[in-house]
Amino acid sequence: MTILLPGDAMVALVGIAGSGKSTFAQAHFAPTEILSSDEFRGQSASEDAFALLHAALRLRLRRGRLTVVDATNVEEWGRRQLLDIAGQERRAAVAIVLDLPVEVCLERLGGRGARPVPPHAVRRQHRELHGSLPTLGAEGFRTVYVIESAAEADAARIERAPRGSAGHNAMSRRNRARRDDARSSNRHRNA
Ligand code: CTP
Ligand code: MG
Repeated sequence: MTILLPGDAMVALVGIAGSGKSTFAQAHFAPTEILSSDEFRGQSASEDAFALLHAALRLRLRRGRLTVVDATNVEEWGRRQLLDIAGQERRAAVAIVLDLPVEVCLERLGGRGARPVPPHAVRRQHRELHGSLPTLGAEGFRTVYVIESAAEADAARIERAPRGSAGHNAMSRRNRARRDDARSSNRHRNA
């Protein structure tokens, strides 16, 4: 699978615990491009973690920096917050769903002592994810890629469109004009 990303996109990974989001992110993106909910939880009170993640996401998108959100993102209200920020910063939102079998994820988690997630919580995440899958596009993601196995995750290739190009779905003329205005006024600061 080739995953085509606008160079200034907001990329939401979506997947239950153990589905391989962090592994995928680290294989395909630079460390500075990844905002991980676990890392923010590690450096602040849990209730502040997402506020910090959202603030960092907003500032990066404002500068046109591609940003990957490594969190489960299986709940609609959580994705809505990310989509709102991307929309306000006029960046395309792309979802990469790691929809691996729940048994595979549970088995992987069994071998991980660091942050145990109870199996019933993982199964609940799986139900949430499957309830969401049919309507992810309608929520506002420009493109939704669904990966269904570890082999597919390993074989995925990421292709980046030049920053600010419309990617393979054309952006509306009006959005493009607004975005280009924003880019020219920021250009000297990004140089
Ligand atoms: N893993 C694996 N093979 C893969 C991907 C991941 O064996 N192709 C293993 C990882 O080494 C890790 C576990 O599966 O021990 C979970 O992967 P991780 O990337 O940490 O999953 P996340 O989706 O990031 O889980 P969480 O939501 O808990 O952060
Ligand atoms: Mg992770």
